[in-house]
Amino acid sequence: MQLSGNTVLITGGATGIGFALAEALLEQGNEVIVCGRRRPRLEAARARRPALHIRVADVSRASGRKALVAWVLRRFPALNVLVNNAGIQRAVDFLHGPRDLPMADEELATNLAGPIHLSALLIPHLRRRREAAIVNISSGLGFTPLAAVPVYCATKAGVHAFSLTLRHQLRQTRVKVFEVAPPIVPTGLSGERERPEETAFTMTPQAVAKGIVDALRRDRYEVALGAAANLHRQRDKLFHAIND
Ligand SMILES: NC(=O)c1ccc[n+]([C@@H]2O[C@H](COP(=O)([O-])OP(=O)(O)OC[C@H]3O[C@@H](n4cnc5c(N)ncnc54)[C@H](OP(=O)(O)O)[C@@H]3O)[C@@H](O)[C@H]2O)c1
Repeated sequence: MQLSGNTVLITGGATGIGFALAEALLEQGNEVIVCGRRRPRLEAARARRPALHIRVADVSRASGRKALVAWVLRRFPALNVLVNNAGIQRAVDFLHGPRDLPMADEELATNLAGPIHLSALLIPHLRRRREAAIVNISSGLGFTPLAAVPVYCATKAGVHAFSLTLRHQLRQTRVKVFEVAPPIVPTGLSGERERPEETAFTMTPQAVAKGIVDALRRDRYEVALGAAANLHRQRDKLFHAIND
């Protein structure tokens, strides 16, 4: 798709992969709006990139999603790209029965219900644009799950299935559906410190952003980046390698 002149909403775009993508898209001449729950992080992002538009919004809640969509469409009627990037990852241990379920519910609401509902709310608008896209950020762990974060992996497998079916349902519209699965990226998501260098298993947020931009430019609808490509290809063998 055309990589300039778009109006893009990136959920969770104040930090990590979302912010790196926001920077890359600003540089290509796009209007970029980012949202998140914490205002100080949004303000810090805008201080680094004054062209960014920011909005406090919680995409895990129906009221947050509705208010966000109403605001965005009022302020940015040219919106033509939704990036479902906001996500959380929690260690959930089923040996403790229901103890961790509140965290699991939070993951389901943010990582899976968020993208599904936001897509549904915005599709009528996106269908009226000349060219439009929904970009879902899944994960290599949606293909080969890591047992320590079981619900996270289930939400990302769900994002993958949703992307496939949404792409099929929208195939005769002008709305393209992309899915990009990053590998491990040292961001606040997993609590690792941010590292500028890449290893065999990790990528920087900037490299992931480059991969997303490349997928959009070349209309590559399902992309697994770096080590996530292995998780995508060799799912059963690797499940035992990382969990046994
Ligand atoms: N890092 C990795 O290794 C990795 C690997 C594969 C896939 N991914 C995926 O990449 C995406 C971005 O993650 P990241 O690594 O860049 O982590 P990150 O820096 O923690 O970014 C996640 C962003 O989502 C926002 N967010 C969380 N819950 C939200 C909610 N309910 N409503 C609105 N915004 C919310 C956070 O801001 P607030 O907390 O202020 O709301 C934060 O800015 C996620 O979907 C993640 O699953 C990450």
